[in-house]
Amino acid sequence: MQRGDGPQKAIDVHISIVGAGHVGKWLFENLATKYDPGKTGVRIHVDRIVAKDPKKQRQGFGEGILSFDLEDAFKGPKTKIVVEAISDLKASRDIACKAMESGKHWVTSSKTMALYPREIVGAAIANRRNVGYMASVGGGTCVLDRISKIPYAINTVVGVLNTTSHFILKRMLLGETYEAALREAQGAGLAEPNPDFDVKGRDGAHKISIVAQRAWNTAVTHEQVCTEPIDTITPVDIQLADALMFRDERGKKHPHVIMPLQVAQMQSGKLALGCFPALVPGNHALTTIGERENAVYIYHEGRKEPVEVRGPGAGEPTADAMISDIVEIAKKDAAGIADPPTLSRRVEVLEPGEMESEFYIRLYTQNVPGAMHKISGVLAKHAINMQMFYQPLLTKRGVRSPIAIIVDKEKGRVVQGALREIEELGYAEDILLLRLFH
Ligand SMILES: NC(=O)c1ccc[n+]([C@@H]2O[C@H](COP(=O)([O-])OP(=O)(O)OC[C@H]3O[C@@H](n4cnc5c(N)ncnc54)[C@H](OP(=O)(O)O)[C@@H]3O)[C@@H](O)[C@H]2O)c1
Repeated sequence: MQRGDGPQKAIDVHISIVGAGHVGKWLFENLATKYDPGKTGVRIHVDRIVAKDPKKQRQGFGEGILSFDLEDAFKGPKTKIVVEAISDLKASRDIACKAMESGKHWVTSSKTMALYPREIVGAAIANRRNVGYMASVGGGTCVLDRISKIPYAINTVVGVLNTTSHFILKRMLLGETYEAALREAQGAGLAEPNPDFDVKGRDGAHKISIVAQRAWNTAVTHEQVCTEPIDTITPVDIQLADALMFRDERGKKHPHVIMPLQVAQMQSGKLALGCFPALVPGNHALTTIGERENAVYIYHEGRKEPVEVRGPGAGEPTADAMISDIVEIAKKDAAGIADPPTLSRRVEVLEPGEMESEFYIRLYTQNVPGAMHKISGVLAKHAINMQMFYQPLLTKRGVRSPIAIIVDKEKGRVVQGALREIEELGYAEDILLLRLFH
């Protein structure tokens, strides 16, 4: 404020909310109980809340505000922003486009941008509208905002953005089986009855594609992400990773921890996108992430240490990110600013099989003469170099036992090809391939 200016006038903004599930309710409640317009300078008025099923019992949304007709979200003459929190991403895209064609801005908690970035950006630019989707990744951490505010070229973004998978692997570190850890996650409300969307990596793939859009201003989608599940990991892998020591620059030894990572990284001018479980050295900050936390590390030009963003992921803080978006868009609207994302940069994305990493191979082999010779022979034929070979148990002839092998940086498709050949030879079975992240 300049000297002589009077106090700034508060902005009034009217919104409609589509979706009266968890997020819709948190949003409505936080606006009513926690939100402080005196701090932000924006008074937020909720015109309508639209849900789908009129037969559902609902409480806490005052009289006359709830509707089951989607049209009501767009009708209010004063409504400036359609705020949407539904799980149907195609319907979310249609709501976004209709809102913008009707002259409204759009805020969402859904991962719609992972599927339809071009349609959303096209509608925002054509209608000169603003969009906010900070809540779609990392809940209350506001990681997308932090990425936007880095004015330098970004090299790598790595993090943990799927709470379900993280919780399960954390519990497996404590000695639980995958099945027991999943049941516990379901009991704690962190996993769906059908957990596939989370444990097969699809949720994380959606999130890292939205992160990459923001970091490189490019319209990538979830389909371009190398996506691998966590439900193939066994307690044996947790133990093997723990036994594989890594020596840091001070000579101190650290075990490895298996973590469900989301990674976006420039590799030789191309963008590598991944959502996969990986072995992380025990001294990496990633390993300190709490079991219900989300965290992201952003590595950019001119700085060795990453920028860290961490905090509560899913759950009620999601509403905080939505309110931040509403406030920002209300201010832009009042100032007549249309600032839609462009995602206009062309960046070539690596095919999943072309992504390079060091790899961990776990396989079971019968202890018979020549078995290891055959296995290492196939790896050598494919020019794959072994850094380490580890068999944890003394094993008598003919007994099946697990073996861990760490190989040098290589393309995923090359290592997968070699492993197929090893399996066909009949000397190894139950093969698992994981990446290392350093
Ligand atoms: N829950 C979280 O912690 C969290 C965190 C970040 C992001 N998100 C994302 O936020 C979105 C909402 O999550 P949620 O947990 O609130 O889901 P939810 O509890 O299942 O609620 C979804 C709501 O959307 C309504 N709905 C669905 N399709 C609709 C349509 N076509 N038109 C109008 N309303 C429709 C449903 O109506 P009825 O009630 O009538 O069925 C319900 O009220 C999802 O995309 C989710 O991925 C969730």
